[in-house]
Order: sequence, then C-alpha cells, then structure tokens
Amino acid sequence: MTHTESAPQSHATSGTAVPITVIRGDGIGPEVIGAALRLMEEAGASIDVEECVAGAKVFEAGDQTGVPQETIASIQRTGVALKGPLATPIGYGEKSANVTLRKLFETYGNIRPAREIPGVATPYSGRNIDLVIVRENLEDLYAGIEHMQTPGVALSLKVITRHGSEKIARLAFEFARSEGRRSVTCATKANIMKLGEGMFQRTFDEVAREYPDIESRQILVDNCAHQLVMRPEQFDVIVTTNMNGDILSDLTSGLVGGLGFAPSANVGSDTAMFEAVHGSAPDIAGRDLANPSAIMLSSVMMLRHIGQPAVASAIEDAVLVTLEDGKFLTGDIAKEHPPVGTIAFTDAVISNLGRVPKIGERRETRALVMPPSSWRPKVIEVTKREVVGMDVLIEESHMTAAQVGTAVEDCTQGGPLRLQIISSRGNKVWPGDTDDTEMIDTWRCRFIRRDESVEITDDQIYHLLSCIGAKFRWANVQKLQVFDGVAGFTKSQGEE
Ligand code: NAI
Repeated sequence: MTHTESAPQSHATSGTAVPITVIRGDGIGPEVIGAALRLMEEAGASIDVEECVAGAKVFEAGDQTGVPQETIASIQRTGVALKGPLATPIGYGEKSANVTLRKLFETYGNIRPAREIPGVATPYSGRNIDLVIVRENLEDLYAGIEHMQTPGVALSLKVITRHGSEKIARLAFEFARSEGRRSVTCATKANIMKLGEGMFQRTFDEVAREYPDIESRQILVDNCAHQLVMRPEQFDVIVTTNMNGDILSDLTSGLVGGLGFAPSANVGSDTAMFEAVHGSAPDIAGRDLANPSAIMLSSVMMLRHIGQPAVASAIEDAVLVTLEDGKFLTGDIAKEHPPVGTIAFTDAVISNLGRVPKIGERRETRALVMPPSSWRPKVIEVTKREVVGMDVLIEESHMTAAQVGTAVEDCTQGGPLRLQIISSRGNKVWPGDTDDTEMIDTWRCRFIRRDESVEITDDQIYHLLSCIGAKFRWANVQKLQVFDGVAGFTKSQGEE
C-alpha cells in the first residue's frame, strides 16, 4: 500500500497478531501512544498495528469531520482502536473528531475503571477502591434534541429506549463476568423520572436475571454519589444512564487521583475504542513531559478485550509497580524524586515487567463477550394501545390561570375531550388556587377523553388544536397513550 498522510500503515509485533487501528492523535498523543506501543511490544503483545490519522491535522487539511475515510475503513476492518487525544482546532468543523468517531461506530457503552493507584496519595488511599462505571453513551439528554418553546423556555428531551437500556445492562454484566466481579449496581433517578430512568431500571432488572452468578443492586443516583464519597469500596460495577455516568465517572476518577490516570473504553456492537480520559495537553506537548500511565492502562483494557489477558496483566502490574516505587515518575506526580520524562518513565515500566505490585489482589480476567451485534431492537408488543387524550403546550403571558382555563375549556364544548388540568413546570395551576406558583409563559393543558370506552381520533385532536390555535400560540402537542392498561404518561404534581 502507498503511504499517504492518511493511509493506514501496518507493522506487526509478532506471529498470530491481532490487527488493531492506532490513532496517535494530537498534542501529547504521539508521545503517550508511542510509549504504550513500545511497552506492548516489550511485553510481547501480539498485535498488528494499522496506523491511521484523525484530529487537528485532518481538520487543517480541509476535512470537516476530522476523520478520514481510510481511518473509518481501518476501524471497520479491525474492530479495535487505540486512540490518542484528538483536538478540535478553533475555527475548524462543527463537531469534534471524537464525537464523529463515537457516532460513526455507535459506541453505546463507555467503560471507566477507577482503581486505587499505588504511590498516588488521596484521602482514600489504602481503601482499595476498585470499581468501574459503565455509562450508556448515546441516549438520554445527550441525544441533543432541544427546542425553545418560547423565547424564554427551553425543552431538552431525555430519550431513553428499551433497546439502549438492554444493551448497556448486558454490557455491564458481561464486563463484570469478564473481570470476575461480584456485583453490578444500577444507578438511576427512577423515583422522579418514572418512565425514562424507570424503564432503564426495570430493563436492568430483567437482564440481571440472565446473570444469576452476579449480584444485582439498585441505587438512586444521588445516594450513589453520596455513597461513592462515603464508602466507595462497596461498589464493583455501576451501570447508569448517560448524564448520570458523565458526572459519576469524573467523580470516581477524582477518588483515585484524578483524570491523569483514567483509562477508558468506548464500546459499540462491533467496535471498541480505547483511550485515556485526559486531553491533548497542548501546554506540555512535544516536550517529553507527558505521563503515559492512562494510555498504558487503556492498552491493558484493550489487550484483555482482544483476548491477551496475561500480557495485559503483566503491563498493568509493571505500571503499578513503577508508580508504587515512585523513583521514576513524570512531573505531574513526582514528589520525593526528581521528575523524569515520558521516555524514561516508559523505560522504567519496561524494566519492571515481571514484577508484581504490593497493592491489591490480582484479578483473573478474560475477554469481554460483546453483547451480540446481530441483536436488533425488539418491538415491544402490546395487545391494546389507545389514545386517551393529549397535552398541548401553549404560550401566554397576560392572562391568569383561571382565564387561560376558561378560554381553553371553551374549545372543548361538545367535543370528546375535556380539560383535565393546566400545569406550569409540572405544577398544577388550574383548576384551583394558584397563588403559590410562579408563572412562566408556557402552560401545559392536558385533555382527557370524556368516555373511557371511546378512543380519541387524530381528527378530534386536530379539531381541538385548531380552536386552541385560534386563541393562543402553541409549541408542542403530545398524544397521551395507554399500553395494555398502563398509562404511557406521568401526572403533574397535584393531578388526580
Ligand atoms: P487536558 O486533559 O488536555 O489538559 C488539562 C491539564 O492536564 C493540562 O494542564 C495538561 O498539561 C494536564 N495533562 C493532561 N494529560 C496529561 C498527561 N498525560 N500527563 C501530564 N499532564 C497531563 O484538557 P484540556 O486542556 O481541557 O484539553 C486540551 C485539548 O484536548 C482540547 O482540544 C480538547 O478538546 C481535547 N480533549 C480531547 C479528549 C479526547 O480526545 N478524548 C478528551 C479531553 C480533551
């Protein structure tokens, strides 16, 4: 193959090598990835490296995505990538190359281990924190569906699917099994968001039955944050929705010494990408100052994933021994001894291959069984589904709640729907006394069928909507449905 700027370059480390895509990335990326590749070679990892590019240089060359086609093709071929940090240069592209990669390969699961690092003193040192956050990575508020309802009211949609919940729950249990872990805890806010976070929790419970060898637990995410600070050692694997996971995984990195040591995996149905959590650190790039520990520990995750657990553990041990010894540490962590550079740190790790750290017990690991890629969203079958009403979000800033109620109710005269409630930010403002509620200019009017035996038709909805539209601006309409007798909508505070 001709080597162009972006064409993959291949070099194998040994015989029956597993092909992997390597993206050195930006800033300190080439230094830390170089260190990890050297270490893997010295440890006897059997990998066949396809070097590809992504990030700043690609943007600067005029590619608006930051990820060339050759890189995409390589990852599709290998299914495994070790990636350095990617920067989005200011003024180039709308989206970061990281986001492009995540979306392209539908990496629905983000796995972030947090393990006590020897030699890195924290308020938790000696408590043997060794936990993993498995975060759903595609859905939730991060689906990016937002609308301004009025110039002063934004609505951000939190999307949770049964499909996404099932996949991430299964990934969490499979990961727990691959690492011989004892428990998986599902952290949600199911008490408040009963449908979205609630479905995530219920789906987790169902999937848990397929893994009787692993204990399954539920926890509310606010209590989880509290417990993580009070008694982090009680947790093993924590699975959670996207935003909860975003916050909790930074918290857990902080418990063990900061983002500088945090490895991660982004897992899709057919692809796994391994990277350090830190960024490209432009302030220290190219000066042999970067600490390559996080990417080395990411390589450990990758080697376990591709079925080379012995080499993985040897590398992990060597990194931990080096940190524990504390004699050859990079500037960001060196205390008692003068700091060394990236290259000297890597030399020290290589010289420590074969040694075992004093801290922590060695975990028996095996390759992660990826939830099957042939798995497709099952349609959730119901015997009966009915439209029983609708919610309409209207805009009004001059009338009182009682006046809005009268005007809207007028539209229902002689029709199959009656006005049940008007709420403002989830609180009932009509019928009844509304003195305590601070009004904003959006009002949610809920209409429910008068006759429980008759389903509401689209024409009836259009008819009512056109009457409302003649009196108010409306921004949003939502059908209210019941599936096999279970309401597919929640009630407002104060709604009967
Ligand atoms: P950063 O993580 O690159 O740097 C924050 C601070 O930590 C800096 O002082 C840096 O010198 C230090 N640091 C980070 N990694 C280090 C290491 N391995 N050894 C020693 N010191 C280290 O975060 P920042 O400055 O917010 O982002 C810089 C660039 O990286 C941005 O363009 C950002 O978009 C990108 N980035 C990329 C990520 C990825 O590709 N996954 C993740 C986070 C940021």
